[in-house]
Amino acid sequence: MLACRICDGRVEEFCDFGRQPLSDAFLGPDGRDDEYFFRLAVGVCSSCAMVQLVEEVPRTRMFHEDYPYRSSGSTRMRRHFERTAEELLAGELSQGDPFIVEIGCNDGIMLKTISRAGVRHLGVEPSGGVAQLARADGVRVTTEFFQESSALTIRKTDGAADVVYAANTVCHIPYMDSIFRGVDALLGPDGVFVFEDPYLGDVIDRTSFDQIYDEHFYLFSVTSVDAMARRFGFELVNAERLPVHGGEVRYTLARKGRRPVAREVHELLAEEERRGLATLEVLRGFAERARGIRERLVALLRELRAAGKTVAGYGATAKSATVLNYCGIGPDLLPYISDTTPTKQGRLTPGSHIPVRTPDSFADPYPDYALLFAWNHSEEIMAKEQRFRQEGGKWILYVPDVRIV
Ligand code: TMP
Repeated sequence: MLACRICDGRVEEFCDFGRQPLSDAFLGPDGRDDEYFFRLAVGVCSSCAMVQLVEEVPRTRMFHEDYPYRSSGSTRMRRHFERTAEELLAGELSQGDPFIVEIGCNDGIMLKTISRAGVRHLGVEPSGGVAQLARADGVRVTTEFFQESSALTIRKTDGAADVVYAANTVCHIPYMDSIFRGVDALLGPDGVFVFEDPYLGDVIDRTSFDQIYDEHFYLFSVTSVDAMARRFGFELVNAERLPVHGGEVRYTLARKGRRPVAREVHELLAEEERRGLATLEVLRGFAERARGIRERLVALLRELRAAGKTVAGYGATAKSATVLNYCGIGPDLLPYISDTTPTKQGRLTPGSHIPVRTPDSFADPYPDYALLFAWNHSEEIMAKEQRFRQEGGKWILYVPDVRIV
């Protein structure tokens, strides 16, 4: 029996994407690096409703000096985190001499605004390369994994925190017991633990199966986070839906009984119950739709190749690893992917070995079709790539289904 990583309940597997590489492990141009593979399958706990991977990848294989992803790669996300920081500064961090800790601060996209406001802060970031970028932006960072021991050290040196914040990080961490003990040690009596991650409800609605990859160990819902908070002595006091990264929820947790529970929490819990969000029937339906998308996407790419059309990928996202490896798409169907991230360019995509090129090469010459892997940034990308459309180029999307626009 597979045991839930949160509550030890029985986990039922509902979806299997097969053998997959690490989504951010880009290879050198000769493709000769050793690659680590694992079985990417997903299950749901029949007791606490937490959706989780059935195999865990050791954390140091994913997050290390050369971790390539930079949170600041999108204008919209820079704005989103600037606004988040401003809201925190005007609210939780507005009294006395406040202190905020961010788990997984990446390149400092959020904390740099906090730092410029002169507010005490600390980023805890295990990936050395991106941590260095944050430091260069004036952010105070410690290069390590957040866990109970690091939280105890921070508490000793910096005192209690008013806010522990994390964006697109908590769902990456299987060992939530140590995280909550750390948050418990670090937060003052009225402090809050705020985190935002992809929302199961949106993943099901959009069939965005590419949100499932090695780093996304959990796929949170309000129901599963509410149960997790209670299990570790906290209470879910607010839940706010966010339109970024294909649909997320920002959860606010407080110590039990310290804050009123917002209406939104009750509403979202009721909605998830009504739609049977964590039921095997709904989840198996999602897996079935993902199989359909795979068939239609591969058929389309084969058709375009047979018709002599050129196709390029746009955005070598972590999400694209699931799509490419699940669908068996390699350089024969997709000769290259363009991406703005310097540490991905000149390398090959994990598992599928498709060359990653600079955005300049996308226009030199434009392909007939561009397969948009960074669909969560589609507004921003389509606005800046208008010339591609004007010159006859077409976008291929696969979320919520395969279509050409
Ligand atoms: P994300 O969806 O996980 O944020 O990853 C987005 C990827 O797409 C990242 O590798 C950067 C890349 N990207 C582009 O190549 N061009 C763009 O305009 C944007 C916004 C992202």
